[in-house]
Amino acid sequence: MLLLLRSRWLVACLSSLMAFALILLGGCEAERRKSDAELGLNAQQSAGRKLYDEYCDRCHNPYSTRGRQGPGLKGVFKKQYLAVSGIPANDARVGEIIRIGRGKMEGFSNVLTQQQLDDLLAYMHTL
Ligand code: HEC
Repeated sequence: MLLLLRSRWLVACLSSLMAFALILLGGCEAERRKSDAELGLNAQQSAGRKLYDEYCDRCHNPYSTRGRQGPGLKGVFKKQYLAVSGIPANDARVGEIIRIGRGKMEGFSNVLTQQQLDDLLAYMHTL
């Protein structure tokens, strides 16, 4: 009886160890988040990054083109046209998407001030 209990205990221990190892491995895959200084962000871009984290990050990966609920936005301003919609990638048109929204994305005109929108766009140019 005691032996049986012990081996159950061992199995429980081993499986939690394995789960822990898996979590660790998974964690290593995700790249460490760089600080604003490491990214060389100026004050406006840092302010924009905070807004991005608060309002956009849950749907848009900033440092990968891999999608979440929306497309990843890495390099969003680096090409002439946006990857999904094909809309020209400039401040005016991207600002419009952010203010009005698009498809399943709600608009942020009631949430962000013009200054905040400018800060957000400044940060997005660094992606
Ligand atoms: C609830 C999820 C959600 C949130 C929050 C969200 N978006 Fe989106 N976004 C989407 C989806 C989904 C699309 C694709 C819309 C479509 O074209 O059908 C999209 C599209 C876009 C596009 C156009 C991409 C392309 O290639 O055409 C931009 C730019 C964008 N979002 C920026 C932002 C920014 C900046 C924020 C934060 C202020 C934000 N989004 C917040 C879901 C979201």
